[in-house]
Amino acid sequence: MSRVPVLTIDGPSGSGKGTIARLLAKQLGWHMLDSGALYRLTALAARRRGIDLGDAEAVARVAAALDARFEGEEETRVLLDGEDVTLTIRSEEAGADASKVAAHPAVREALLERQRRFAQPPGLVADGRDMGTVVFPDALVKIYLDASAEVRGERRYKQLKDKGLDANLGQIIEDIRQRDARDMQRPVAPLKPAADAYVIDSSHLTVEQVLAECLGRLGR
Ligand code: DC
Repeated sequence: MSRVPVLTIDGPSGSGKGTIARLLAKQLGWHMLDSGALYRLTALAARRRGIDLGDAEAVARVAAALDARFEGEEETRVLLDGEDVTLTIRSEEAGADASKVAAHPAVREALLERQRRFAQPPGLVADGRDMGTVVFPDALVKIYLDASAEVRGERRYKQLKDKGLDANLGQIIEDIRQRDARDMQRPVAPLKPAADAYVIDSSHLTVEQVLAECLGRLGR
């Protein structure tokens, strides 16, 4: 495995890991791997080719041949086959599709080496579900960012309300609980902290406090 320093940040959606990972990458001047985007792109590419997302082998072939690029100052512009799909892959539908393709072991295997190639000097911040457990088991520092279902539900509720959308807080929290159970119980790369990960509960912490905690673990 590479000698490039890697900081992994895993955890459930809504824990704030995406925000924290980007801020850390910026502050450290390191590259960023948004592994969830690769699953979102695989699902989108498969759909565009008319492939059934339940067909593991066909989707894995799409994943292996994925023409994906991350561009821009903080590598946040996402291109699929040369087309900017940054916003397209952020929809609820794209997230649900990503979760379907992410459940296929063959798809995860097809994306493994591609994810490891993101480890380039001077360093990498890798955001996902299995960064510390599967993709970068030798990472320098592993963080598992968690938050209670209630807090994550409230964050999601606020996002939807801010967009002017209808939302039911109780239902959102229930959905999160069910998704957590599914993600933690799936046989392949289940969501769980690596044995050597630092678990941080962000429920009652500010972004600055979580950042300081992560940087402290890196000795910065
Ligand atoms: O983090 P995200 O919402 O963009 O992830 C999209 C989907 O991909 C989500 O259902 C979980 C899955 N995923 C995964 O299984 N492993 C990863 N390393 C990253 C995401």
